[in-house]
This record gives sequence, structure tokens and C-alpha cells, in this order.
Amino acid sequence: MDRRNFLGLSVAAATYGIANLPTLTRAQEMKAVDDQQFWQGITDQYDVTDQYINLEAGYYGIMSKPVMREFMKNNQYVNQNSSYYARELYYGDYNKIINRLAGKLNVGNDELALTRNATEALQNLIMGYNKLKAGDSVIYADVDYDSMQSEMRFLKTYRDVDVVKINIPEPGTYQNILEAYQKALNDNPKCKLLLLTHVSNRSGVIAPVKEIVAMAKERGVDVILDAAHSFGQFDFDFNDLGADFVGFNLHKWIGAPLGVGMMYISKDRIKDIDIFHGDSTQNTDINTRVHTGTMNFAAVLTVNAALDFHESIGIKNIGRRLRYLRNAWVNGVINNDKIEVLTPQDERMYAGITSFRIKGKTSQAENKELMQLLFDKYKIFTAAKTGLNKGSYIRVTPGLYSSHNDVAALSDALNEITS
Ligand SMILES: Cc1ncc(COP(=O)(O)O)c(C=O)c1O
Repeated sequence: MDRRNFLGLSVAAATYGIANLPTLTRAQEMKAVDDQQFWQGITDQYDVTDQYINLEAGYYGIMSKPVMREFMKNNQYVNQNSSYYARELYYGDYNKIINRLAGKLNVGNDELALTRNATEALQNLIMGYNKLKAGDSVIYADVDYDSMQSEMRFLKTYRDVDVVKINIPEPGTYQNILEAYQKALNDNPKCKLLLLTHVSNRSGVIAPVKEIVAMAKERGVDVILDAAHSFGQFDFDFNDLGADFVGFNLHKWIGAPLGVGMMYISKDRIKDIDIFHGDSTQNTDINTRVHTGTMNFAAVLTVNAALDFHESIGIKNIGRRLRYLRNAWVNGVINNDKIEVLTPQDERMYAGITSFRIKGKTSQAENKELMQLLFDKYKIFTAAKTGLNKGSYIRVTPGLYSSHNDVAALSDALNEITS
């Protein structure tokens, strides 16, 4: 007998998530990006404050209401059943979730492990990558995430390699970004490892990953891919990218509760990542490559509900809608010669996230001031950021809860500020 039935536990909470979530679209049904009724229906599935317009969905993706409800049930369930759940049932649920995620990415279920976030996955991959010898070099770029950059720099101490930082051209184009990586690889023939970010958290630029990975592999260089922002934001064929070592988030664009990420190691490359510090189980199980400690069980369980909700809209609809919202404000300022949009107008290179600055305003203080003005006067929340070679800027990220009016309010505000 199933243990849960035997114990009379709440089966619904623990197994396949949301039984009664309304099916928003029939599978694969394409929705017009400006279908007011449909997208209002999605917005209504989120409980967001009406005190200001949140255009900073890039930090993490809030849960929709049905996912939140399921999370609360799962919290209660885990709390009621405590270590019995953790010891006897969790791994069964964990494996079902891994199978489901593996099915979505079309990879083996032995190639994925859940982590607490993308950082944990990528730290393990960068530190664990064991093919580096003293005197080799590794490359990362200014568009990469801060803590991944510092992890790469630490390889100098940890593996005695030369660490090379490159700057990605701004404005970027498909071609000049490819050329920047090509030049970096050509200039550093001892390079063995490249960090590559699928969607930059700074500029929102989607890198030509497939071409860069192929270019690197041709030269015997491995790539660690930071996919923290891509999985769930837009449609792509994961296998087509050719990446062997990847870190993901499920609490950004999949909409799971905070505290769930994922690590991918291609099956035939598992030995190139060290067994985690002192783990004595000498085998090729991916779970020997990351030790998360106790996970937030309820958050993990709720991945099912998040996937149900996400799939009920469909990744193609999500990607197209986010691009539409992005275009709605960008098109409102693109002819304003006082504003620099940092994310190229090439559909291959952006989804929802796009950054800008007022021309010449490159200091952090100036961008913080602008962010504050947008918030105080226009009630629009954005993020002033640093880290790009050419200076500070503002990042704008609508979410599935954003409306056309929300993003139009931003372009109207920017045009007024610069008039
Ligand atoms: C590109 C990129 N990589 C990694 C991370 C780290 O994600 P987390 O903080 O969830 O570990 C982020 C977070 O914003 C990111 O944008």
C-alpha cells in the first residue's frame, strides 16, 4: 500500500500539484500577445501590490496565486509530517520532479540535480571542473553575474590558472558578440574553460550560445552555461545549445517558490566535475557533485504546481508576451536621442529584460537618482545597476503580471524626464 494512503496523509498536496488549476490554454494554442482578455486573465492570477508598478521581475519570479496556494498547502503538509516526510517520502517526490524537468529539457534524469538556486549549481560547476592545470587560462565577461565572476576569479587561487575578463561590446550585435568571444578564444590559446551567460542579468542580452559553445569546443574549451534567466522565460531547444555544464533557476521564470535551482551535467562529462569535497561515494551519480544540505521540501514539492501553471500558458506564449511588453516600452523611447537602449533590437537577442541609460549618465549615483525619481514621481520600480564596462544603467523587467499600461507608463515617464 502507498505509504501516504496508509498514513492518511494529504496525497493531493504532495503528488502532482494542482489538480484543479484552470487550463488557461489548450496545449500549444497560440494566444495573441495583445489579447486583452486572455492576458488580463493571467494578470488576475497574480497578487501584486497596486501601490507601484513593479518592473523588476528579474530579481525573482513571484508565484502565481494557484502556485502560492499549493505552496501553503505543501508547507502545512511538510510541517505536519516532518521527518517522516523527509526520510520516507521526499526522495520519491524529488525523483518525480526531476523526471518531469528532464522530460522538459529532453535530457536524462541522471543528468539533473536540484539545488537551492542557480548560484549553488554554478559554484559547484566552476569549482568542481577538474580539467584545469596550472598555467591554463579561463575566460569570463563583464555581462556575467557578479558572484559567478568572482567564482571564476577564485580559480586563480584554487587551480592556479590565468583568469581573463573580456568586455562585451556595447551596443552589442549578434555578430560583434560572436566576434568578441572568438577574439578572446583566439587571443588565449591556453584557455580551457569559458563562463557564458545565456541571458545577461545586466543587459538582458541573449547570447548566441549555440555558436559560442561550438566555437569553444572546436578549440577544446569547455563552457559552463549560466541559464539562471533563460529557462522558462522564452522557448529554446536545450540540447541544441550543446552545453555540458549548466546552472538554472526555477524561482525566476518557472515561478516556483524561492529556494529552488538546478544543475545539469551531461552524462558523459560527469567525471570532469569533482565529487563534492570529500564525498566518499566514488561513483558517477550527479548527486555526489552537489551537497545542498536540507532543502526547503515544500518549495521543491511546489515545483510541480509552478510547472502546471507555466505549462497551462505555454512557453511560446510566455516568451512572445514578454517580448511584446518589452517592445511596448522600448518602442516608446527608441527614437528619443537622449536614451540609449542597451539591448539590441534583434529579436534573437532579447526576451523580457532590457536595460537603458540616459545618454552620458554612466555613474551609479546618477542611475540611482533616476531610479528614485521613477519610483517617487511615477510609482515605477526598476533597478539601477552597475557592472557593464560602459557604466551604470537601469534594468527593466516586466513579468507575466504586467500590463501594456504598466510598461507604457515607463516610456511616457522617460520621455517626460528627458524632454
Ligand atoms: C545571470 C544570473 N546568474 C545567476 C544568478 C543567481 O541566481 P540566484 O541568486 O537565484 O542563485 C542570477 C540572479 O539574478 C542571474 O541573473
